[in-house]
Amino acid sequence: MAAVDYKNAKLIVETSTIAAGQLTWQSPSNIALVKYWGKHGDQLPNNPSLSFTLQQAVSTTTLAYRPKKGTDTGLDLSFTFHGKPQPAFAEKIKQYFHKLRDYFPFIKQFSFDINSENSFPHSAGIASSASGMSALALCLCAMEQELFGNLADEQQFRRKASYIARLGSGSACRSIYPTAAVWGATSEIAGSSNEYAIPFEAELHESFQSVQDTILLISKSEKSVSSRAGHQLMDGNIYATSRYKQANDQLRLLLSALAKGDWDQFGRITEQEAMTLHALMMTSNPPYILMQPNTLEAIQRIIDYRQQTKIPLYYTLDAGPNLHLLYPANDKEKVQSFISEQLASLCTDGKYINDQAGAGPKAL
Ligand code: PMV
Repeated sequence: MAAVDYKNAKLIVETSTIAAGQLTWQSPSNIALVKYWGKHGDQLPNNPSLSFTLQQAVSTTTLAYRPKKGTDTGLDLSFTFHGKPQPAFAEKIKQYFHKLRDYFPFIKQFSFDINSENSFPHSAGIASSASGMSALALCLCAMEQELFGNLADEQQFRRKASYIARLGSGSACRSIYPTAAVWGATSEIAGSSNEYAIPFEAELHESFQSVQDTILLISKSEKSVSSRAGHQLMDGNIYATSRYKQANDQLRLLLSALAKGDWDQFGRITEQEAMTLHALMMTSNPPYILMQPNTLEAIQRIIDYRQQTKIPLYYTLDAGPNLHLLYPANDKEKVQSFISEQLASLCTDGKYINDQAGAGPKAL
């Protein structure tokens, strides 16, 4: 598919005609089943990935804008997290806006105050960059639509938001769509692209539309190796080439499982992907481990429970120690008892978060 070019020097306004305003978007985190791990160019994935979009784990971001009076063309923005200054995040957002100047040239004509809030505890090991960056990308695209009226078409709007979110954090581009999304070019899915994610809800068997995801908070400490560093280490990983081939093969099998409602095949692939991701970390140079002893203990208990009960309860992992437990809505009650009786004690302060695939981002 031809590359899209969202750089547009014409997106400049006559500021004297524009009043100050603000936009708020709420956007969820997502959990990948086939993982994106390894990238090239400007946040382009080395293999396609597929994720469920969550519902409870969300970021709510408000972008307040004021037209500048003078001729200053520098970036002018403040960033607060839950209303409090966060210099480290503010710096990241500044760099992000800097990168976006050619996509939204009007950025230079306004002063911005951005506030973001997460529904989940900070540093809970939930991918806050996916929810945060997608919420901000949606605010910027909504601002473009408000100023120029050129993104009225829903598909165009989401596609640009996904593209822009990707430039902030790769996996964020998948959070733009409800229930499930695919990012990365694959011959298996028409319209798939390395530059933005596309929706995948319609292709899911109904038993996966309401898939439950309970996140076990095994550890809340800061990760010892960031995702950014992890992606970079894939460049020298001796298994990288086979991994990218494997991801494509896994995706093919997963697509058929998701369409048929085949939970066994779904679970096999999902768990293999989680283990592969962490095996790639352990075989990086230098190697590192993000799982904790309680991650392994929980995995063993989940496997035992599944064997004893035949309930299709499966796990996956992000780049961290916290497990995502995936299971059908029908088995919710039984699985919840198992979690509170046998897994909660492995979590920090006994904490876990019940989530499920959901409706995707919304404007507030
Ligand atoms: O979007 P990033 O750069 O934080 O990378 C996310 C990588 C994984 O969460 C491990 C996998 C994925 O596809 O989301």
